Amino acid sequence: MYSLIRPLLFTLDAEHSHDLTLNLLQTAYRIPGVAPLVRRTYAGRTPALPVEVMGLRFPNPLGLAAGLDKEARCLAPLLDFGFGFLELGTVTPQPQPGNPKPRLFRLTRHAAIINRMGFNSSGLDVFLTNLAAQPRHGLIGINLGKNKLTPDAQAIDDYLTGLRAVYAHADYVTLNISSPNTPGLRALQNEAPLAALLGTLKHEQATLARTHGRHVPIALKIAPDLDDNGIDAIARLLVEHNMDAVIATNTTITRPGLDQEPQARETGGLSGRPLRALSTQVIRRLHAVLQGRIPIIGVGGISNADDAWEKLVAGADLVQLYTAFIYRGPGVVGEIVRGLAEKVRAHGATNLTDALQHARQRISA
Ligand SMILES: Cc1cc2nc3c(=O)[nH]c(=O)nc-3n(C[C@H](O)[C@H](O)[C@H](O)COP(=O)(O)O)c2cc1C
Repeated sequence: MYSLIRPLLFTLDAEHSHDLTLNLLQTAYRIPGVAPLVRRTYAGRTPALPVEVMGLRFPNPLGLAAGLDKEARCLAPLLDFGFGFLELGTVTPQPQPGNPKPRLFRLTRHAAIINRMGFNSSGLDVFLTNLAAQPRHGLIGINLGKNKLTPDAQAIDDYLTGLRAVYAHADYVTLNISSPNTPGLRALQNEAPLAALLGTLKHEQATLARTHGRHVPIALKIAPDLDDNGIDAIARLLVEHNMDAVIATNTTITRPGLDQEPQARETGGLSGRPLRALSTQVIRRLHAVLQGRIPIIGVGGISNADDAWEKLVAGADLVQLYTAFIYRGPGVVGEIVRGLAEKVRAHGATNLTDALQHARQRISA
């Protein structure tokens, strides 16, 4: 089905086709009978592959990565495509337009995207209004960012504002300090500012947990463009601050294997197939340091079950994708989860956790 629609969508400029697709999904879901049909076609063909991470029980380990539904507009359709969870956002405290268009580019031959969206966001108020207007039948992460106009020295305040606003509505919250398209943002990954950010946000989480009677996990999303020392320093801080999870990775500012591609010169973060190996390396390094003490959510260039399995065996507890959804459509979700279930069986296991333990042991032996 998507193979018929994709050529039409790909004749449009990338951002236009993205907006059109979300609008179509929203509109279609108002037509009686559409939701059950989508659910039967996609979620119905996605096997259960439950896994417990961050104290939450995920129906399967494949989530939608942040950035596709920045405004929490399409919860039901996206969950009905079979995702085990959705990460919504990035949402900034105040509305902001993001960078001038064009700011989203398809590198079709490489199954990749370059984006320099720059946190286009309707802000927390609209985001929460959208969220409240929709029924929930799955796990929702909410990804927080800072406004471009907020001075770097006050960045923590934006994350605090975000955490307080979304706490009651999220199953987990992500601190996104790794988008390459907000000037100065990635500097928050440096040791001193990161220690201050994590310390403040974890303290606030404890206060909110008492008020709301519920612990909402906080994940940190990091870039793939860190060297080993940078990754190790972040891993140490994650442990020190008892963070609930780390998401590896965001898009890259490097252009692996794209020397001959004129569009690769566009400024922005690269996602999709060329990012795969780089983000897996970061996951492997994190896993070596963290040794299972903090869950890892692996993301970057996953487009089939082998890619997802590679990240899981490298140390991820959950995985996410975005770019493959654009290139391969909603059918990719069930296909990957079915492939993972098959791998679990091939390892003689009855659940993903045991299968991964087995696979990781085999590799280290
Ligand atoms: C168009 C686009 C917009 C994105 N926006 C965000 C965002 O707002 N926040 C975020 O944390 N990551 C964002 N990402 C990064 C993805 O969540 C993901 O980390 C990255 O694309 C790698 O996964 P993929 O190769 O499966 O796409 C965006 C990616 C794309 C392609």
